[in-house]
Amino acid sequence: MHIRNFKQSDRECILELGTKVFREDDEIPLLQKALGQCVSELSFVAVEDKAIIGFTLVCVKMTNVYYSFLSKIPNCYELAFLGISPTCQGRGLGTRLLKETLLAIFQRSTHFTCWLLVDTDNYGAIKLYERTGFRRWVSTSADKTFTPGHIMGLSYRRYLRLIANLEARPPSACRQM
Ligand SMILES: CC(C)(COP(=O)(O)OP(=O)(O)OC[C@H]1O[C@@H](n2cnc3c(N)ncnc32)[C@H](O)[C@@H]1OP(=O)(O)O)[C@@H](O)C(=O)NCCC(=O)NCCS
Repeated sequence: MHIRNFKQSDRECILELGTKVFREDDEIPLLQKALGQCVSELSFVAVEDKAIIGFTLVCVKMTNVYYSFLSKIPNCYELAFLGISPTCQGRGLGTRLLKETLLAIFQRSTHFTCWLLVDTDNYGAIKLYERTGFRRWVSTSADKTFTPGHIMGLSYRRYLRLIANLEARPPSACRQM
């Protein structure tokens, strides 16, 4: 398995994988939009046996304006999609892709803020995001989003603290993060 940057030619494969992990009614139209406007240097795919088994898509232009305050945050990035093939979940791929993505955002803009929307009942994803440093900002109601969700965010200050903590730990502890 290797991780590389997203290419325009990945769009069809990602869409096909997306249909296996995302809701048809609201998420697939947003996935199509994100595939059209994501930033290639900040978006990644995990490839195994020449097939895409996971991806992140990061957008500067929001796929959907849920709250206007988000559009006023400087250097703000939307983690629009993180998806791992159902047969490959639980292998640490989501964690690796997310870390690679955040590092790429940080390398582009040291004062970044990253936000995302996650369903309130997507406990696995919420746990992953919280462990990576994201915090719940706003809980959305069904009139804002298709299902109740959380807008979660990560500021560069918190990201820097997490990186600093990781570097301060002995190697055995770092491997567990
Ligand atoms: C959520 C998702 C991206 C996680 O990717 P993954 O590769 O399976 O996650 P990892 O193997 O890196 O696991 C990281 C952590 O996520 C959590 N997690 C992932 N899937 C989980 C699940 N099904 N149930 C509970 N916790 C889960 C765990 O905390 C796990 O850490 P642990 O193994 O130490 O307990 C993946 O399951 C997925 O694509 N789901 C469908 C699409 C989706 O929900 N995307 C996010 C939308 S915002």
